[in-house]
Amino acid sequence: MPKTIIAGNWKMNKTLSESVQLASDVVKSAGKASPGVELVVCPVFTHIEAVKEVIKGSPVKLGAQNCYPADSGAYTGEVSGSMLKAIGVDYVILGHSERRQYFHETNEFINKKIHHVLAHGMKPIYCVGELLEEREKGITPAVVTEQIEKGLAGITPDQMKNVVIAYEPVWAIGTGKVATPEQANEVHLLIRNLLVKLAGEAGKEVTIQYGGSMKPDNAGELLAQSEINGGLIGGAALKADDFLAIVSAK
Ligand code: 13P
Repeated sequence: MPKTIIAGNWKMNKTLSESVQLASDVVKSAGKASPGVELVVCPVFTHIEAVKEVIKGSPVKLGAQNCYPADSGAYTGEVSGSMLKAIGVDYVILGHSERRQYFHETNEFINKKIHHVLAHGMKPIYCVGELLEEREKGITPAVVTEQIEKGLAGITPDQMKNVVIAYEPVWAIGTGKVATPEQANEVHLLIRNLLVKLAGEAGKEVTIQYGGSMKPDNAGELLAQSEINGGLIGGAALKADDFLAIVSAK
């Protein structure tokens, strides 16, 4: 059975003190929210160390939202995976649709990042998902298949055990338009079959999260689907109560 993982992608939100407060509110209730669920918080780079201090000794894990796939060098403005590992990061969100859209990240470039993060002993949360026009054209399976096959090229079955996938239909992100549980589960099943094709038994153990307007009132039915093993939460992760209500819905 894949592990259930619910991660808060805080995106470019919260001041330093607000991040510390939010992390501390999450830690306070994390234990009672849902014992079998792993919680992850992903603040902006500059707040990671402070949040790490707050979650120290708690079951809450630390995530980053991106990284550059080289250890060091002339890459102005970037942060490497080795730097994130050195400050205690466990998970790194990669290939988020906002990075694909605004920073023109390709499947091939994201593949380099996934290899880099795994090589440094962290777990990538690899985001895939179709645009609205792609769904309307009926090419969701082709788009997601290409993202999975190119993004995960060269990943061994052993490495696959440390990979997390987030299926985030782009039209559902920040729009309040959530995929129906059946729509989501259908794509999750496609992803599961691709993972098994790529990595055999290891593919059966990969956590596949859903992301896109997941809220306390729709989380229960999404998380009840057979292939939905958690969530990557944006807006609702910015309030500890909402985030924890989603966790309790599992
Ligand atoms: P929302 O939950 O705000 O729709 O964002 C989802 C997301 O992009 C998480 O990575």
